[in-house]
Amino acid sequence: MLQAIDLSKRYEDGHLALDHVNFEVKSGEIFCLLGANGAGKTTAINLFLNFIDPTDGKALINEIDSCKLPLEAKKHVAYVSENVMLYGNFTARQNLDFFAKLGGKPNLSKNDYYTVMREVGLQEKAFEAKLKTFSKGMRQKIGIAIAIIKDAENILLDEPTSGLDPKAAAEFQNMLLRLKEQGKAIFMSTHDIFRAKAVADRVGIMKEGRLVMLRTREQFLEENLEKVYLEYMQETTA
Ligand SMILES: Nc1ncnc2c1ncn2[C@@H]1O[C@H](COP(=O)(O)OP(=O)(O)O)[C@@H](O)[C@H]1O
Ligand SMILES: [Mg+2]
Repeated sequence: MLQAIDLSKRYEDGHLALDHVNFEVKSGEIFCLLGANGAGKTTAINLFLNFIDPTDGKALINEIDSCKLPLEAKKHVAYVSENVMLYGNFTARQNLDFFAKLGGKPNLSKNDYYTVMREVGLQEKAFEAKLKTFSKGMRQKIGIAIAIIKDAENILLDEPTSGLDPKAAAEFQNMLLRLKEQGKAIFMSTHDIFRAKAVADRVGIMKEGRLVMLRTREQFLEENLEKVYLEYMQETTA
């Protein structure tokens, strides 16, 4: 379970990027956070990962405070960023092996890696190819594979589908739904309202550091989410 409790971040330059944000993502739930560039989505994710410290409030992972006990908290979360950092001169399998060992899984076999790469839909011929030859969609698949190998109960995804072609984005969507079925708590920041509608149990809209709208699946299926989103965005300039 992921919980933001009055989570706030004021950067050193005085900018209030996150202003007392509250949300919860339970096991088996997908929470999608929408919002314009600069709204504070990445800041929220970075607080859960303790890349930065909160100014106020807490980010809890399985009820563990990610600021007070970062190492303990991070055991229970996997992270997929927009641009997954991988080693270009390593093959796909070598990258998985490197990150698996780093994440405390030293005993996985070649077969284990192949199984996961099949699961995320990577073509077989790419398993032993160097990462530098990979497209963005293929790199995202490796990012997800690393998250699956970690087998954490919670997954944070920061704009994972930006720049993916429709086929890769559709595969990605199915992957998310499978992870949800396994009981993962999934938090995803995205610009893709279409994907959010397809997978989310709840959708939030963030604007200037505040969570200005929260809808359950039942609620947002009854309205036009694009329209609601644009209305919230327009209020900024009014
Ligand atoms: N390290 C930083 N120092 C100062 N301001 C920052 C820093 N990182 C992000 N910001 C600012 O905080 C706001 C939120 O940024 P961010 O969380 O990256 O938004 P999003 O991911 O929604 O695009 C933006 O105005 C951004 O310029
Ligand atoms: Mg961002």
